[in-house]
Amino acid sequence: MSKSTDIINEDSKYFANPGRINYFPLAISHGYGATLVDVDGKEYIDLLSSASSQNVGHAPEPVTEAIKNQVDQFIHYTPAYMYQEPLVKLGKKLCEISPGDYEKRVLFGLSGSDANDGVVKLARAYTGRPYIISFVNAYHGSTYGALSMSAISLNMRKKYGPMLPGFYHIPFPDNYRGLYGAPTSNTVDEYLAPLKEMFEKYVPAEEVACIMIETIQGDGGLLEPVEGYFEALQSLCKEHGILLAVDDIQQGLGRTGTWSSVTHYNIEPDIITFGKSLAGGLPMSAIIGRAEIMDYLEAPAHLFTTSANPVSCEAALATLSMIEDQNLLQASADKGDYVRQRMDNWTEKYDIVGDVRGKGLSIGIDIVSDKQSKSRNNDAALKICNRCFEEGIVIIAVAGNVLRFQPPLVISYEQLDYALDVLERTIEAYMNDELNDYDTAGQGW
Ligand SMILES: Cc1ncc(COP(=O)(O)O)c(C=O)c1O
Repeated sequence: MSKSTDIINEDSKYFANPGRINYFPLAISHGYGATLVDVDGKEYIDLLSSASSQNVGHAPEPVTEAIKNQVDQFIHYTPAYMYQEPLVKLGKKLCEISPGDYEKRVLFGLSGSDANDGVVKLARAYTGRPYIISFVNAYHGSTYGALSMSAISLNMRKKYGPMLPGFYHIPFPDNYRGLYGAPTSNTVDEYLAPLKEMFEKYVPAEEVACIMIETIQGDGGLLEPVEGYFEALQSLCKEHGILLAVDDIQQGLGRTGTWSSVTHYNIEPDIITFGKSLAGGLPMSAIIGRAEIMDYLEAPAHLFTTSANPVSCEAALATLSMIEDQNLLQASADKGDYVRQRMDNWTEKYDIVGDVRGKGLSIGIDIVSDKQSKSRNNDAALKICNRCFEEGIVIIAVAGNVLRFQPPLVISYEQLDYALDVLERTIEAYMNDELNDYDTAGQGW
């Protein structure tokens, strides 16, 4: 038996079901750059970046050094009671790189989920209004507040409801499939209609605290919005005194080629959340927003004992410096363009590639059964993932059928070429009926 199999068998005795989506038998030994090495010594190119939490790659020296240095000083003293310089430096940096031309404040957490919960508290408190609106297909996290904002999987609803009261969901302005799958219905007005109807009939706009968006819906299938929608949404928010919040946990920090994915749109959110890659993979999230909103509540309204620990703060400072020093924002944009030069032809070349979309190195490849109906081909997507895995490429599917292409921003051009070769070969193999032997039952979301 291989070492990987040993670990995986042992894992199943202790690690409980809700904590892992079943994909590949990969037990990691170590990693470097965009490469993962399993405990049996096999190397993989990582196109998943640990769910976009390794934007600067695996174990980069600036980050590991920063962690080691801080660990020798002190590992933690809670910011709930004391002060420390790494927190101050990171708070300042986050205020500088986040969007919004206003005075800001920051709060720290341990996961994207708790940051989004914080947004709910702050928005409700500041506006004095109860209701929160977000989007169908959104994934905002796993705590009850973030869950209540999410609407992506029945496994995140079944058996442990009810969710928190006062949450509503509207259709995401999906530029590819259109409103309820009708490709001819995808104008800004058509997408705003369900919200306007809500305001007219069952949710008073003056009682809505905030609308939460992902600029590109990540786990929802790397969905890009209809042009002009967010701008129109922000106008509506302003008209009704509703805060606009952006969850930039997956799309932020270089993933789309900019510090914040908000930069691609002409909007200025009142509040934004970062997480995932922020501390190079150590647990850390941040809420950054207008000072008057962020300071509105009083302690201990939103604090966590181990949040903003100096080890994570130093890791985050090193991560952000690395993004700057190695020009990783530009690298993400350039590598994204490079990939797209080849990938954008796939919609013509391959019957099962319905759409290729995204920004920078945040790319979705939409695998369909039929280009006309755009019906999702989950089976093909999973089989492609399985064959890629055998060929040393880690890639998964989101929304059932959308291949998630999100490598670390430090991936080399040679690795990109290899990954694209494997993907093309695998898509062809599927179309030639060569992937029928994979059993995908129980795999994926
Ligand atoms: C857009 C978005 N928001 C929030 C989260 C939740 O982050 P975490 O898993 O760190 O709680 C995720 C995680 O996938 C995400 O993609």
